[in-house]
Amino acid sequence: QNLVPIKEVYQDYFLIGNAVSTSDFDGDRLALLTGHHNLVTAENAMKPDSAYNNGHFDFNAEDMLIQMAEDQGLAVHGHVLVWHQQSPEWLWADNNGNPLSREDALVNLRTHIETTVEHFGERVISWDVVNEAMNDNPPNPEDWQGSLRQSGWLQAIGPDYIEESFRIAKEVIDENGWDIKLYYNDYNDDNQQKAEAIYQMVKEINERYAEENDGELLIDGIGMQGHYNLNTNPENVRLSLEKFASLGVEVGVTELDITAGNDGVQTEEEMNQQAYLYARLFQIYRENHEHISRITFWGLDDGSSWRSDQSPLLFDRNLQAKPAYYAIINPDQFL
Ligand code: G3I
Repeated sequence: QNLVPIKEVYQDYFLIGNAVSTSDFDGDRLALLTGHHNLVTAENAMKPDSAYNNGHFDFNAEDMLIQMAEDQGLAVHGHVLVWHQQSPEWLWADNNGNPLSREDALVNLRTHIETTVEHFGERVISWDVVNEAMNDNPPNPEDWQGSLRQSGWLQAIGPDYIEESFRIAKEVIDENGWDIKLYYNDYNDDNQQKAEAIYQMVKEINERYAEENDGELLIDGIGMQGHYNLNTNPENVRLSLEKFASLGVEVGVTELDITAGNDGVQTEEEMNQQAYLYARLFQIYRENHEHISRITFWGLDDGSSWRSDQSPLLFDRNLQAKPAYYAIINPDQFL
């Protein structure tokens, strides 16, 4: 296959990323990775629970993965500092599972973020500081605090754990004079209720910080994960994107995939519908490229996807390009 590199098609618009583990840095997978992408996110290796070994910080596996990316000239996006999943529970709860005191949880939050951000420094271009803090389809999205997921961090600290997380990360970055963008990242980003709650949250936190800091942003970007399916309405994606961009933050599409099919089988119709939706999305992304920093796919091929059964990616299990690949290479011609 002599394929046009995706990263070259979009080089004037945004970075093209993918989610990786060390096993992607070999053979045909590596060729696919470096051929089409210029950015990577660790699919699992840089999550909070990976930062500890027996309760002590241990970044060996992370450092190895980052070195592999650097050797290939790939930029790295940090995923993730604060999340309710894949994190040691002692960060926010005691041995019985009861929330720590606010003070104790804040100490753990600070130590975790400071140590991690310090350790990686400018080897990452950006961080997902807080991931998936919002409930799905919140009924009163104007009340963003009331729309927050009941996570361990929320229960121990309260709604300001989010602002605190960004402030801690920002302090480290400013003290060192680094240029690293700080993101809030979430899924079901096409749901307008959820998008509204995220919008209200980022607006309030950024306005407060700007007042104290000569108009500077605290949250630099909003990550739209982009885990879509054939029922996703691309016009809702556009609405969310424009809403977030109106805050003056950059938007990252951080974990894009579109499920179509079941049991690892995709009919020709499903493949074409999937390609059609990818093409529509890339038209929207291109139109809004001034606000978009990167488009990251969540996996190289259908076989290694977290939703492998539903064949959500551009390349099939033999790493061959699907209609979706051709659709994003030239959306106008495809549609
Ligand atoms: O590493 C262990 C292995 O030792 C063990 O034998 C095996 C048995 O189940 O599990 C392995 O861990 C799995 C891990 O992926 C690495 O493969 C976990 O069970 C599995 O739950 C984990 O899934 C990851 C998931 O996040 C966890 O929440 C997916 O790979 C990863 O794609 C997914 O990524 C998330 C983003 O971080 C945030 N947004 C949503 C996205 C999709 O869920």
